[in-house]
Amino acid sequence: MSTMKLMLLCLSVGALCAVHGEDPYLFFTWNVTYGTISPLGVPQQGILINGEFPGPNINSTTNNNVVVNVFNNLDEPLMFTWNGIQQRKNSWQDGTAGTMCPILPGQNYTYHFQVKDQIGSYFYYPITAMHRASGAFGGLRINSRLMIPVPYDDPEDDYTVLIGDWYTKSHSSLRKQLDMGRSLGRPEGVLINGKNAKGDGKDEPLFTMKPGKTYKYRVCNVGLKNSLNFRIQGHPMKLVEMEGFHVVQNIYESLDVHLGQCLSVLVTADKEPKDYYMVASTRFTKTELTGLGIITYTDCKGPASPELPSAAVGWPWSLNQFRSFRWNLTASAARPNPQGSYKYGGINITRTIKIVNSARKVDGKLRYAVNGVSHVDAETPFKLAEYFGVADKVFKYDIISDEPSATAEENISLTANVVKQNHRDFVEIIFENHEKSIQSWHLDGYSFFTAAIEFGRWTPEKRRNYNLLDAVSRHTVQVYPNSWAAIMLTFDNAGMWNLRSAQPERAYLGQQLYVSVPNVARSLRDEYNLPETTPLCGIVKGLPQPPPYSA
Ligand SMILES: *[C@@H]1O[C@H](CO)[C@@H](O)[C@H](O)[C@H]1NC(C)=O
Ligand SMILES: *[C@@H]1O[C@H](CO)[C@@H](O)[C@H](O)[C@H]1NC(C)=O
Ligand SMILES: *[C@@H]1O[C@H](CO)[C@@H](O)[C@H](O)[C@H]1NC(C)=O
Ligand SMILES: *[C@@H]1O[C@H](CO)[C@@H](O)[C@H](O)[C@H]1NC(C)=O
Ligand SMILES: *[C@@H]1O[C@H](CO)[C@@H](O)[C@H](O)[C@H]1NC(C)=O
Ligand SMILES: *[C@@H]1O[C@H](CO)[C@@H](O)[C@H](O)[C@H]1NC(C)=O
Repeated sequence: MSTMKLMLLCLSVGALCAVHGEDPYLFFTWNVTYGTISPLGVPQQGILINGEFPGPNINSTTNNNVVVNVFNNLDEPLMFTWNGIQQRKNSWQDGTAGTMCPILPGQNYTYHFQVKDQIGSYFYYPITAMHRASGAFGGLRINSRLMIPVPYDDPEDDYTVLIGDWYTKSHSSLRKQLDMGRSLGRPEGVLINGKNAKGDGKDEPLFTMKPGKTYKYRVCNVGLKNSLNFRIQGHPMKLVEMEGFHVVQNIYESLDVHLGQCLSVLVTADKEPKDYYMVASTRFTKTELTGLGIITYTDCKGPASPELPSAAVGWPWSLNQFRSFRWNLTASAARPNPQGSYKYGGINITRTIKIVNSARKVDGKLRYAVNGVSHVDAETPFKLAEYFGVADKVFKYDIISDEPSATAEENISLTANVVKQNHRDFVEIIFENHEKSIQSWHLDGYSFFTAAIEFGRWTPEKRRNYNLLDAVSRHTVQVYPNSWAAIMLTFDNAGMWNLRSAQPERAYLGQQLYVSVPNVARSLRDEYNLPETTPLCGIVKGLPQPPPYSA
C-alpha cells in the first residue's frame, strides 16, 4: 500500500495508527486563522489553531511520525518550528526561513517528522513575522516508550504549563515597531496557558489534582522578552527532566525558566484540599509582572490564599540554581543504553566558536548582531540554495570570525550569516554577553552540554571550571549580563540549523545565524532527500531537481 493511501486510511480511523514494521503515525490537521482573544481583558487579534489559543498539545511517544497538515488562513506567509525536536537528517522540516519557503496565505503544507530517539517536553510556534506574539504556540511532549524505564513512578496525570510574558498589541503592530527600528518595550502581563487568573474567586482552575496523588507538570517559557520564576503555592517541585534529559531529582521552591526553555517537575497533592496559585513572574525587571493560574483539588474546600509565594531575587540565585542542575548518569534516555556511556568530557575539541551579541543603531534603526553581523534572511532559503547548487548566488559562507575582534560589536553589517561546520566534529561554542540584559540562545537540530555559565569574560583557562561529567544536555541556554556560557556538542546531524536568540524580538532584528553541516557525500545515510511536497521559492523555483542522494 502506498504511504499516501495508508495516511488516508489512518486519518479515517483516528489520530494514532501503527503500521506494521514502521513507527506509529500521528496525524493532525491545523486550520490557522485570526480570532479575537482577550487574555489580559483587552480584546486583541490572536492567531488560533483550530479555534484554540494556545494551540493544541501534541502528545507523542519516542520515534512516532508526526504529520501536521497546516492550512494558512492568515493574510501573511506562515511557518512553524518545533522547538527542541532534533529533526535527525531532516532539516527540511525544521520550519525556519533558512530551510524552507513559507506557507503562503490560502495554501497548506504538511510537516512530516519523526521524534527520533527523543523524550521530554517541548513546544512549537510560528517563527516568522513575530506571529508568536499573537499565539499559535503549543506544547509538544514525547513520552518514553513502555519498555524504557523512567526514573520515577508514573504520575497520576501529565499537564502542560505554557508560561510567557504578553503584549496586548497584535503581532503586526509589534512588528511595525521593530521595522521602524524601535524596541518592543515592556510587556503588559504574564500568561499561564493563555490566561491570567483574576483572583476574584471566579477563575476556572487550570488543573485538578486528587489528594495524595503525584502529577507531572511540563513547564515551558513561550514568552517574548523575560525570564520567568515559576512556583506553586504550598507545593515544592521535584525536578525530573529538562529538555529531554532525566536530571538528578532535587526539590525546588521555585524555578527560573528562561526564554525558550522547558522542564518537568513532579508535584504531590499532599496539602489541605483547596485552591492554590500557580505563579509565573518576570525576573531581572524593574517592574515585576506576575501571571497567576489556579490549581485545585478534587474535593476542594476553599479559595486560594491571596498570599503569594515570593519570587527568587538576584542573579547569583539564578546562577546557583543552574549549577544545581545535573544529568542523572544512570537513568535511561530514549534508548535502553545508559546515557552515561556518552562521556563528552573525554572528546577533543576541534573548534571553538565565540559568539558575542550586540545591539546598535544602523542608519538610525535598532539592530541586534552576532560578531558584528546582523542576520537577514534571503528570499531563497539557504538550505534549498545549497541543495540546488546555487548557494553562491544567495549568500556567502563564514563572514563572521570564530574569534571576533574587540571592535566587531561596534560595526554592524546587515547580511545573511551562515557558518560552515564539518559534519561530526566536536565543537565548543562560547556565548559571551557584554550587554546589560540576559540572553537566551537556542540551537536547532541538536542538544548540547551546558558545560559552564560564569560572570565575566571567557578565557581558555576557564575550561578548568567546566562540568565535564554530568552537565545537562539542552537546546537552550541562558547567558547572564556581562557573563558567558560554554556549550559542547558533536555536529553529527547534517543539515542547515538555526542558532538564534530565543527572544523573538532579537532574532527578528538579526541576532541569529545558520550553521550549515554539509552532507558532502550526498548520502541518504546522513540526510533525507528533499521531500517532494516542499514548496520552492526564490531562485530555486523552476530549477531542475538535482540527482537524489544515494544509499
Ligand atoms: C478554517 O477556519 C475558517 C474560519 O472558521 C473557515 O472559514 C475555513 O473553512 C476553515 N478551513 C478549513 C480547511 O477547515
Ligand atoms: C498521551 O499519549 C500516551 C501514550 O499514547 C497516553 O498514555 C496518554 O494518555 C496520552 N495523554 C493525553 C493527555 O492524551
Ligand atoms: C493540502 O491538503 C490536502 C487535503 O487535505 C492534501 O491532500 C495535500 O497533500 C496538502 N498539501 C500539502 C502540500 O501538504
Ligand atoms: C537516577 O536514575 C536512577 C535509575 O532510574 C534512579 O534509580 C535514581 O534514583 C536517580 N537518581 C537521582 C539522584 O535522581
Ligand atoms: C586528544 O588529543 C590529545 C593530544 O593531542 C591526544 O593525545 C589524545 O589521544 C586525543 N584523544 C582523543 C580521544 O582523540
Ligand atoms: C565598519 O565596516 C565598514 C564596512 O564594512 C568598514 O568600511 C569600516 O572600516 C568598519 N569600521 C570599523 C571601525 O571597523
